[in-house]
Amino acid sequence: MSPEKKYIIVANWKMYLNFYESITLCTVNQSSIIEIAKTHTLIFLPSFVALNSVANALKDTGALYGAQDCSEFDRGAYTGDVSASMLAQLGCSYSLIGHCERRIFHNETDEQIAAKFQQLLKYNIIPILCVGEQEQSENRRDVYRIIKQQLHVLKSISVDIQFFIAYEPGWVIGKNGVICDKQYIDQVKSVIRYIAFHMNSFKRVKILYGGSVTHQTIRALLELNDIDGFLIGKAGASFSEFQSIINVL
Ligand code: PGA
Repeated sequence: MSPEKKYIIVANWKMYLNFYESITLCTVNQSSIIEIAKTHTLIFLPSFVALNSVANALKDTGALYGAQDCSEFDRGAYTGDVSASMLAQLGCSYSLIGHCERRIFHNETDEQIAAKFQQLLKYNIIPILCVGEQEQSENRRDVYRIIKQQLHVLKSISVDIQFFIAYEPGWVIGKNGVICDKQYIDQVKSVIRYIAFHMNSFKRVKILYGGSVTHQTIRALLELNDIDGFLIGKAGASFSEFQSIINVL
């Protein structure tokens, strides 16, 4: 990522956009995408089936693209999986791993996520590691314990690699404009930086916030201390909504 860019903006399209809708979003809004990518590191995460065509549609726009997940394995009898080497062949620069919807609906464990992290590094794809508590908890220590466990994956990683951590409290994902308290996010974020540093001397981890980032919540979220960017789900699948978030940045 070039240092002069303002924010890292990741649009995780989940399964909101089909193949045609994904390409249309890129082609119809090409000039706006070019403008946004001049100021921000702009990353689109389409579904696997749309990746190659989205890659073509984004050519020369300055926007980047990646996957929403990858296999923990390199190759073999893993029906339905997509490996990091396959993503690399398509020119993916990034991949999400450990998204809370994968942890919940596919029972993904921290061990599997650690293996995915290694796979991505092997193929020079930048991991966007999602962490966050699923349930709202009164007890901050519980939250820190969960996040520490999720960040354990960093233990085995060498210090000079590039990756992002996306903090997403599971209980505000998809809540359309509901965010948790700013002070709460700031505290958890500081704990993430602290743990990452003590886990493996990562001095300047890029931290994104995700969970109901919309044009209604973005102003409040911009008041967060020391945030490097945002992971946007539903609001990223509608370009007008996405643009109205970007306009506030
Ligand atoms: P949301 O999703 O913006 O729809 O809450 C964010 C995410 O899950 O990455």
